[in-house]
Amino acid sequence: TASSVCDLTVVGGTGDLALRKLLPALYQSERRGNLAPGTRVIGGSRHDLDDAGYRAMVREAVHTHVPAHELDETVIERLLDRVRHVVVDADSPEGWDELHGVLKQAESDDVVRVFYLAVAPRLFGPICQRLDDIGVVEPTSRVVLEKPLGTDLASARRINDAVGQVFDEPQIFRIDHYLGKESVQNLLVTRFANTFLEPLWNSRWIDHVQITAAETLGVGERSGYYDTSGALRDMVQNHLLQLLCLVAMEPPTYVGRETVRDEKLKVLQALKPMSPEDVDRDTVRGSYAAGVVDGAEVPAYADELGRPSQTETFVALRAEVQNWRWAGVPFYLRTGKRMDRRTSEIVVVFKAPPHAMFPGSEGATEPNRLHIRVQPDEGMHLHMTVKEPGPGGIRLRPATLDLSYATAFDAVSPEAYERLLLDVLKGNPTLFMRRDEVEAAWAWVEPVLQRWSSLDERPDEYPAGSSGPAAAEALLERDGRTWQETDR
Ligand code: BG6
Repeated sequence: TASSVCDLTVVGGTGDLALRKLLPALYQSERRGNLAPGTRVIGGSRHDLDDAGYRAMVREAVHTHVPAHELDETVIERLLDRVRHVVVDADSPEGWDELHGVLKQAESDDVVRVFYLAVAPRLFGPICQRLDDIGVVEPTSRVVLEKPLGTDLASARRINDAVGQVFDEPQIFRIDHYLGKESVQNLLVTRFANTFLEPLWNSRWIDHVQITAAETLGVGERSGYYDTSGALRDMVQNHLLQLLCLVAMEPPTYVGRETVRDEKLKVLQALKPMSPEDVDRDTVRGSYAAGVVDGAEVPAYADELGRPSQTETFVALRAEVQNWRWAGVPFYLRTGKRMDRRTSEIVVVFKAPPHAMFPGSEGATEPNRLHIRVQPDEGMHLHMTVKEPGPGGIRLRPATLDLSYATAFDAVSPEAYERLLLDVLKGNPTLFMRRDEVEAAWAWVEPVLQRWSSLDERPDEYPAGSSGPAAAEALLERDGRTWQETDR
């Protein structure tokens, strides 16, 4: 379906997210002809800009963040024709009438009003209130919220309540940009549009699952936000748990507005709650020390911040999904900044064959592993055991079945935001997080946060450019396992 004719108001229109992600994504949608004629983009910010001034900013953002070979001046002009700016400030009632005025100039009464709140979450409630006060929220309107949705369960509920005063749940689109990634959506297709995996996708055949999101970037200029957050809130509560849900969920009857989200919610509800002892045993916190990343020396987290901190930049943990399919199968999750490489991947490790029938093969075979690479080099690799070629009897060897998206499809995957913004404009909420999901995820991480803060300890240090603290290795070694990485 085509996207509806929308008035997309981006509150925080001059902010980092808008300039780096949203406007480039809108440019790409324009380039592909996916924006309906008549759709407008209204940037709202505290800056004293007129339309022309904001358009110049948008042009620069597109030039900076879109690859040069995809730039086309006529497309930029078409996009700029849609762009307006209004001066609004969440903390003051002034200016909001101007937004009202601009929205009233819409092409027709059918234009769908979309409000994208690309601002700090503490402003979500107040901004929704302002929108309500000026009377621009209609039953067809939509609101888009960015993470972090709160810092714990109580604050998430408060934000959800405040937004819920003005918008009904079906009007609320909560973004988890991992769900917009091509390879993440492919996970659903791989599992449910093929027959050979699903019969094996359970505790009978799967030994354990590993989910990694490693970054080489440090915290840099975001340390103000990051130090109040840490890796558990920033990556695990949302992105990693969403990946876990997609790996673990039951097949819905069909892919519908609620069906996928219903199944994901059941997984979150089945996560084994962590007691303080579980937290001590099954979680690892790290903080990067100085080190070398991609050949360059980089400072420690505490030095970037300018003071010591207990905030973790790395987490590894062991989770369990307590249901019929997954009983006894550990899910190991880890994420960190300033690691040795940028890679996000899911590794499903199967059990060893029940019987070693080739002479001398006991212990010589590696269990099958399915690597689902989220980024970079999206693709899938299946590690198998095969016969080493040659006449001298049967010798076993590991080998890989390889599927690389780039080679198979000769196409560059669109950025997550492009897909998600289009879904908002089309009114398709499937890839957005529902209130109950967000709150279930907070409910699960909360005991971890509480235990950590009660311990009053610094996280383990790991050198920047490494694979994290030694305790993360020990977490798996204790269970007789090791972290698996795609060989590159
Ligand atoms: C964001 C986090 O949600 O995801 C960042 O706030 C993190 O800290 C980013 O760097 C990672 O996203 P991606 O798409 O680069 O894996």
